Amino acid sequence: MRILGIESSCDETAAGVVEDGARILSDRVASQLEIHARYGGVVPEVASRQHILSVIPVIKQAMAEAGATWRDLDGIAVTNGPGLAGSLLVGVNTAKAIALAHNLPLTGVNHLEGHIYANWLVESSLKPNFPLVCLIVSGGHSDLVLMKGHGDYTLLGRTRDDAAGEAFDKAARILGLGYPGGPVIQQAAETGTPSVPLPHAWLKGTNDFSFSGIKTALLRLAEGGKIASPADAAASFQEAVVEVLVTKAIAAAREYGVEQILVAGGVAANRRLRQRLLEESPLPVLIPPLRLCTDNAAMIAACGYFRFRAGKTDGLDLDVVPALKLA
Ligand code: KG4
Ligand code: ZN
Repeated sequence: MRILGIESSCDETAAGVVEDGARILSDRVASQLEIHARYGGVVPEVASRQHILSVIPVIKQAMAEAGATWRDLDGIAVTNGPGLAGSLLVGVNTAKAIALAHNLPLTGVNHLEGHIYANWLVESSLKPNFPLVCLIVSGGHSDLVLMKGHGDYTLLGRTRDDAAGEAFDKAARILGLGYPGGPVIQQAAETGTPSVPLPHAWLKGTNDFSFSGIKTALLRLAEGGKIASPADAAASFQEAVVEVLVTKAIAAAREYGVEQILVAGGVAANRRLRQRLLEESPLPVLIPPLRLCTDNAAMIAACGYFRFRAGKTDGLDLDVVPALKLA
């Protein structure tokens, strides 16, 4: 079964063809990173206009790279939330037009569910095995989710304020390191030592997260001119966030007696997070390769495959849901 995935929820226009939810035939991403970098964040109106320019060329490239014609496809999967309404609309309307023109079934995919399914695209002997706990860490979310089977999610915990990626982005701005925050903090941290004491919000007895305290502490230090080395501050910030994510993910996995920990979302690209989770978890940990952690459409196609298999198709009335929930 070959599925074309389309993703346009934020600032990447992406299309990819995936076979049987596991084999990537093509995976194209047109990034708007440079366009938004000068504003220090994603400008929604600019993003949706850019998606309109990119979506058809990116789909054409993905189809060509997969060597696929429309007849070779079995369905279209498209992100319909959560995300920016104007951005989501471009992907969803394009997907609907293709589904109608070529008489293909359509399914709307939750972007976070897509991130989780990036783990099904990994060529490794270690395959996802239910029940599992998934740590979803992106620019907009920090969730701990219990997954007992395909499409079966129970939200165990979430952030009460900033998402992990959002915290990285804000910390980078405070330290004057640029955008996007995750990669630049990680790079600065490589030459620093985590010597600056920063508060950890453990929120004991819950699986929730809070990252605004760490960010505010960093801001106070910066305002007081107390940051001698941005590299040390970056390393300290990264260590504090990673420490909380790793500890709480392992605790949740123990509490629910699961088989594995899955990690997903843009922050899963963080080298320190990957290293510490793999070292400290008593359970197998699955993390997609870097390219599949950040936004892409192969993960949307993979998720779409499992949705089609479960009979979850959508009609041409499929709409965007900017605040779509996973569970
Ligand atoms: O999943 P994603 O590409 O988009 C959303 O769905 O939000 O995640 C983007 C987030 C950004 O906040 C970015 O700073 C963060 O992922 N990120 C990282 C790294 N690479 C991207 N955070 C920490 N370390 C990284 N290496
Ligand atoms: Zn994402």
